[in-house]
Order: sequence, then C-alpha cells, then structure tokens
Amino acid sequence: MKYEYDLTFSPMFDLVCIGCGATYRSDAVIYTCSTCGHLLEVRYDLANINITRKDWLSRPISVWRYRELLPVAGEPVTLQEGGTPLYHLKRIGEELGLKELYAKHEGMNPSGSFKDRGMTVGVSMALQLGMKSVACASTGNTSASLAVYGARAGIPVIVLLPSGKVALGKVAQALMHGAKVISINGNFDRALEMVRDLCETKGIYLLNSVNPYRLEGQKTIGFEAIDQLNGEVPDRMVLPVGNAGNISAVYKGLLELSELGFIDQMPMMTGIQAEGSQPVVRAIRQNLPEVIPEPSPETIATAIRIGAPVNAEKVLHAIRMSKGTADYVTDEEILGMQRDLARKEGIGVEPASAASVAGVKKLVETGVIDRDERIVCVVTGHLLKDPETVIRQCAPPIECDATLESLLAALQL
Ligand code: F0G
Repeated sequence: MKYEYDLTFSPMFDLVCIGCGATYRSDAVIYTCSTCGHLLEVRYDLANINITRKDWLSRPISVWRYRELLPVAGEPVTLQEGGTPLYHLKRIGEELGLKELYAKHEGMNPSGSFKDRGMTVGVSMALQLGMKSVACASTGNTSASLAVYGARAGIPVIVLLPSGKVALGKVAQALMHGAKVISINGNFDRALEMVRDLCETKGIYLLNSVNPYRLEGQKTIGFEAIDQLNGEVPDRMVLPVGNAGNISAVYKGLLELSELGFIDQMPMMTGIQAEGSQPVVRAIRQNLPEVIPEPSPETIATAIRIGAPVNAEKVLHAIRMSKGTADYVTDEEILGMQRDLARKEGIGVEPASAASVAGVKKLVETGVIDRDERIVCVVTGHLLKDPETVIRQCAPPIECDATLESLLAALQL
C-alpha cells in the first residue's frame, strides 16, 4: 500500500509556551518562549479536526498515516519512516511472568533509530520555514538521522558530537551521508549549548529535541503501538530516557488521541535511565519540582549519556500526570538484556534501547509492575549502531583451516 500525499493539506496549529501560555505563529522560527524561556509545544485545533480512526487505518502504517496531527503542509521529506514492528516478547515475558510484554522495534527505521520519525517532520518544517541549513548536537543517532534527511532534502547539515563517546555506526552514518561532523572536546550537554548558540548566531535551523516539530513526528510511536494492538491502549509504555524528548512526545500524542475521543485511558509513562546518568529518576524519586543536572554523566549506553535533559519540564509532567514512574538500570543489566533480546527473541538493539526492557525486569522484580499489565517497551535503536560494544561482549569467531576435518574439530562434532 502506497501513501498518497494530499499536496493541498495545510494543518492548523499554534506554538504555545508550556510555561506562560504565550502563543506564537506557526511560521515563527523559535524554539523556546521569548517571554519566559520555557519550552514550546505544537497545539492543534482538535475540535475542528475531521478525522476518524477508520480513516487512519485505511492508510499504510507510517508516520504519515497521522498527518492531521502533524504540522507539515504539502509533501514531506520522507524515506518511509515508521511502521516499525511491534514484537511480542514471549520468552522474556514468560521468564518475568508477563503475558503481554511487547517491544516496538524502532531500530527498523531508515537510519536505524526512532529519530527518523522526528527528522522527517523536522526537516520538512525546515524547508517549509525557508531555512537553508540545519544542525544538531548528538550522542549519535540524531546526527545520523539528520545527515540522512538533510541528504534527502538536499540541504547542508552540521552535527556536533562529544569526542570519543559516539558509537561507531552512528559516526559512520553521519560521515557517509555528507554531514559536516565536528567532534567537540566536551560532553553532549556542552555540545548542545554550543549548537544552540551557533544556530542563533548564524540563522541555522536547530533540530535537537528542543525543537517542538521534531517531537511531533516522534509521538507517532504511541499511535502506531495502539493501532498494532487493535485499538487497545497499553497499561504502560516504557522508554529509555536521555534528553527526555521521546517519552514526552509519546505522552503528548496520546493526550491528543484522548482529547479526540479515540482512546479512553492513558498508559503509565515509565522512563528508564542508566545508573550513571539518572537526573530524571532522582527528580521523580525525590519529588523535586525540577530536574537537577548531573555534571558528569557516564554509562556504556552512550546514546543516553546525558546529564541535563533539555525536555526535563515535559518529562516530569508526563510521568506524574500518567501515574508512571522512572527507574535506573546498571550497565550490567543493560548489556545482559541486550544479549537476552538478541538470543532469546532474535531482536537486535543497541544498549540504550535494551535499558527499557531491563527496566521492566527490575520493576517486575521490585513489585512496581503488576504481572497483569500490558506493556509496550520502545527499543529505540538497532544493534549495528554500536558494533564495538557487541564485539566486546562476545567470544571471537573460531579460527579454522579450510578442511572438513578442521571444521568438525572446531565444531567439536
Ligand atoms: N535511545 C536511543 C538509541 C537514543 O539515541 C536516544 C537519544 C534515546 C534513547 C533517548 O531519547 O533523548 O528523547 O530521551 N539520543 C539522542 C541523540 C540524544 O543525540 O541521538 P531522548
């Protein structure tokens, strides 16, 4: 089934400050409120949107199935992102006593991570707003995805990466797709500050998750999961948290479905961080009004090695309002679950992605998760993103002479 784009489609929305409620026109190039500095979000005129779930279900499953709730007019910059598989985790679920444990495999997107959902929308908006170049800071996946979509759109891309802390596959993608790749002698949080300054000074379009349009694309993970569960809402959605854009985006999208009357319950939004990089977990556990940044975050899951999540305000709201929770997992738990997903389920994900399922294991064992819950874990990126961490965990291939005798000896048969 091919998606037919309505070239005359023109969405109705405003950009609204989540702090003071100030409203900005949809053609403004702005990322945070110029009055109070808080984050912005896209708000649609939901009462006047004419769409039914049946209309959506008649289209191919992809980000663009849901275009009435996306900000892009006309034809988007697309590589057919979304429509990722929702797998039932039978073996891991059985071990944990969970009948309904699912993984939405976002590694099956064009560049191998969920970032493509954000970039198809974000880069389309960059063109719509007349921007001539785009940039981001990244722990890796955002840079790979922006490089891909910038190439598709035919505009130059600049990416800032924390030196020595980005997995090999992600750097390879950013380089091969033609981005200008800058390696910063500092961590991701510093790279993000720098790229924000760069974009402001030079009129370059910023495509980190502080950009409200990017999150619009990412919210479709939740829409698809519900469609794939035949309209049933999961009791809980579990996501790895770094900058906290994705979990906030999914929550926002589901709120919209609820306001449209398409669903009658919200999942408990559950965020999982790494032990060495858990500012959101601390804020939730200690019931703090805001997230206190961690100056030196550290974890093997470099994708979520982030101490100052830019969407802190949004994630605290999402978790608290949905009666969800946040917890951390150790690097050992992350790698153990990466191997379990690979070997027991045939699902290859990168370490940060395994954190969501490792988090479910911990929350079941500590009695937070009820075994009757229907749970969707978002596994965010593909195994091949970080081949070095994979190779380090596995025994090397067995060397063998090119004879049957040696082969049988090598196989101990
Ligand atoms: N999982 C993976 C594989 C990621 O790459 C990221 C974020 C996350 C989870 C966390 O998502 O930031 O929305 O909470 N990666 C960003 C990047 C920071 O630059 O690629 P989040």
